[in-house]
Amino acid sequence: MINNKKLPIFRVAVLFFSMSILSSCNTKVKEEENKGLCNYYVDYFPIGVSVSGRALIPPFDTFITKEYNSLTPENEMKMGPVHPEENRFNWKPADEIVDFAVKNGMKVRGHALVWHEQAPKWIFIDNGDTVKKDVLLNRMKNHIDSIMTRYKGKIYCYDVVNEAVADDSTMIFRESNWFNICGEDFIEQAFVYAHQADPGAKLFYNDYNLNRPEKMERTYRMLKKMVEKGIPIDGVGMQGHWSIFEPSEQDLREAIKKFASLGLSIQVTELDVSVYNWEKNRRAKNPDENDEFTESLEQKQADQYKMIFKVFREYKDNITGVTFWGISDRTSWLNHYPVEGRKNYPLLFDSELNPKKVYKEVVNF
Ligand code: XIL
Repeated sequence: MINNKKLPIFRVAVLFFSMSILSSCNTKVKEEENKGLCNYYVDYFPIGVSVSGRALIPPFDTFITKEYNSLTPENEMKMGPVHPEENRFNWKPADEIVDFAVKNGMKVRGHALVWHEQAPKWIFIDNGDTVKKDVLLNRMKNHIDSIMTRYKGKIYCYDVVNEAVADDSTMIFRESNWFNICGEDFIEQAFVYAHQADPGAKLFYNDYNLNRPEKMERTYRMLKKMVEKGIPIDGVGMQGHWSIFEPSEQDLREAIKKFASLGLSIQVTELDVSVYNWEKNRRAKNPDENDEFTESLEQKQADQYKMIFKVFREYKDNITGVTFWGISDRTSWLNHYPVEGRKNYPLLFDSELNPKKVYKEVVNF
């Protein structure tokens, strides 16, 4: 018989026990075969992965909870998918991911509150014309409030603004609809609104190619100004869409040190290591383009991942999370972008979910 007075304590004990068996990454796992990436990195930073709802069923569900302790919705929380009409939210796909994470004791990164891509058409239009700045900022506030209120206590950090810095090195800001209508205010306001909506959430600026010195410098200047003005920003997300050709060890270190010097924490939010050169624009596959994963490419990729994770571990005081962009080479977005149908091999698991050779390089240290 359980004494009634002791029931609450008993319940708490059961809860803790069940949480620890649900997520193996919350504990130190000794047996090699039961270890996932997140166990190897338990003393460093959470290891995450981007997912869609389709990935949360067998056999992927147990695979995911074994290897990772953080999830990012790959598309489900972007403004277009989650907020397709002004007065309609499509919560189900995002809820499924958040619920799965909560059930399994995993963290969730919210991605992405404000971005020029995958934005719904309605947001920039008002009565058939381009929307005015004050109306757009209001809509943005409503969007941010709705998401962050719904997931308060479940999502611990957000990519508040994504990719606002231009590719063109002669300017700082990308000439997106957001920028063209609001100027740079949209960036600061997004952080202010996000902080109001959930003061407990960690707020990130997220972008790609931040390892490249000149884009890093421009981004640094933008962030420095925000920090000095007291804008509530906690960190910078280096997407980490890298390749066997970049970043160099030196550029990677420099970028981490430079952003950390602003007092910001750093997360690598969308890691994959392509076997091709980085290209921005979509194009068709060339008839003579070979997309075989040769031994030489495999070795180059292993060397690159090894270096990257060595540097991450060295900067564990500044890096608060590393997330892979996709589960395996089968479902990586890089099989479709920038070249539709060109097979890429950017992740640690092959198309059958088996760890590739490179996996060992990441966990042997
Ligand atoms: C990508 C997704 O992986 C694809 O499925 C989708 O078709 C396009 O967006 N930077 C980001 C991510 O911040 O949201 C993008 O994700 C990849 C580039």
